[in-house]
Amino acid sequence: MDLNDSISDILDSDLRFGRSFYSTFFKRYPQVEKYFDGVNLHRQAAVLTMTLLVIENYRTAQRPAMSTYLRELGARHNEWDVPLEMYDYFRDSLLESLSQFHGKDWSDNLNSQWDTAIDCTIREMVKAYEAQPESTPT
Ligand code: HEM
Repeated sequence: MDLNDSISDILDSDLRFGRSFYSTFFKRYPQVEKYFDGVNLHRQAAVLTMTLLVIENYRTAQRPAMSTYLRELGARHNEWDVPLEMYDYFRDSLLESLSQFHGKDWSDNLNSQWDTAIDCTIREMVKAYEAQPESTPT
């Protein structure tokens, strides 16, 4: 199984993967839950599926339009006061959920493909943090 097969299975699962991701994310890192106060988690589960497509796509070809999108997305996360260290929590929870989702089809190779892809995306998003003044703690 490679990244494309993984994405296909996730799309076939409707929103099951998206829902399981947020429960893993909140269970492993309870401190992230407050960022989702008032956020519609059903919509967010769909957003996550879209996010995986973005991550996979960006790994395949780093098109300028996609870099712009990711930097803008990073800027919005910065405005929402999402700290940089939470991207590691996000990556860790995503890999954990993916491994649970794929079960026996999960492999070191697939783990490393996803890890590299997530890394590319995060690297682009956090550029926006360097470009923007730090948000003031509340
Ligand atoms: C690779 C890393 C990440 C990607 C690709 C990503 C992607 C996205 C996308 C596509 C949206 C939807 C934006 C929209 O509605 O227009 C979103 C929303 C959101 N993300 Fe992330 N995200 C990432 C990391 C994180 C982290 C680490 C947190 C930490 C708490 C976080 C918290 C949120 C929240 C709270 C929203 C919803 C904000 C709202 O609708 O008010 N994200 N994310």
